[in-house]
Amino acid sequence: ERYKQQRAAGAALYNSDSGSWSVYRHDGVKRIFADYEHFSSQMQENPSEDEPIEGSILRRDPPKHKRMRSLIAKAFSAKAIEAMEPRIRKIAVEMLDRAAAARSIEVVSDFASPLPVIVIAEMLGIPPEDRELFKRWSDDLVGIDYSRYLQCQMEMRDYFRVQIKERREQPQDDLITALVQSCMEDDNGLSELEVIGMCILLLVAGNETTTNLISSMIMCLESSPDTFNELRLNRALIPGTVEETLRFCSPVQFMERRVKADMNWNGHLMKEGQRVYTFIGAANHDENVFADPGKFDIRRSPNPHLAFGQGIHFCLGAMLARLEARVALDVIVDRIERLQRTDDKPLERLESDMMFGIKQLRIRV
Ligand code: HEM
Repeated sequence: ERYKQQRAAGAALYNSDSGSWSVYRHDGVKRIFADYEHFSSQMQENPSEDEPIEGSILRRDPPKHKRMRSLIAKAFSAKAIEAMEPRIRKIAVEMLDRAAAARSIEVVSDFASPLPVIVIAEMLGIPPEDRELFKRWSDDLVGIDYSRYLQCQMEMRDYFRVQIKERREQPQDDLITALVQSCMEDDNGLSELEVIGMCILLLVAGNETTTNLISSMIMCLESSPDTFNELRLNRALIPGTVEETLRFCSPVQFMERRVKADMNWNGHLMKEGQRVYTFIGAANHDENVFADPGKFDIRRSPNPHLAFGQGIHFCLGAMLARLEARVALDVIVDRIERLQRTDDKPLERLESDMMFGIKQLRIRV
């Protein structure tokens, strides 16, 4: 409802307290994502050693962005991601079977949260005993406590520094080695800090988001038993269900850009240095693009949602996130006949404006 009013109020809304703009309509969000010449992703002039994420690919403009992206794209190629399906399935099955013994599963903490953490930790080549550390870091990074966020980036920086040193001495068959080999062993390559920023970004960008996608999907299906039944009879509907959850419950609700130079945008005077917030969550409910946007419709086609962004920064992990969500749902459909909550207390949402997700959801198995 709030997003609807904001979409109706104008192409861009100015917030005089923060001196920033917010864009809620689908066409506006899409155009800003596409327009890197006027809207920069680089929020800080010179990112410090203490915040490696600020120097990561997410926060770079061309031409630097293009070079970084081409260096790491190989590790995320369709072939590399598809090859991971059996392993992802095995992890998902193990987690559900363990829960089945207990007759119920808390979807977020028993399933949706560990799955992406284990997958990315294995991809990077992090030993299983460090996974708890990983989990804590990825929670702290999206938490609301800024000092913990900074502290945690520094801990991770030191951790990855050691990992990178080890891989340089003794290469392994993992993503850290691939990043070291393709990014650092070339004069034109990346600095150690940039590779560290990339490793941290993979945790920040990939874990909480995929967790929220999977748990929101189960939430939507729990409240629509007929849809879940349809899926049981027709697994070909699984990819559409994942896409519709991305639209309906977009895990990333907004991104930010910085205005590069004074300009007139759709009749609004935007000034150099001002922030612009692109509200993905609002764009994905825009009635000018999606018929009956308040309906969770797994057959929606086309479904041009912007959950993974658009243009040069389009989510590098989109294929991986989609695969994890598809496999998770497939395994659930295999093992659970009816999605049924164990209680009917109202679901609690995460306390974050940026991330959309639920805190807990307990289902009978
Ligand atoms: C970029 C969303 C999962 C890695 C982005 C962007 C969005 C997004 C909206 C664009 C940011 C911008 O334009 O400023 C999501 C969602 C996910 C997800 C909703 C899950 C449902 C993942 C995963 C990974 C990942 C699993 C990796 C393991 C990245 C990276 C970028 C990115 C590296 C930066 C790409 C660039 O700047 O060129 N993601 N993401 N994401 N994502 Fe994801």
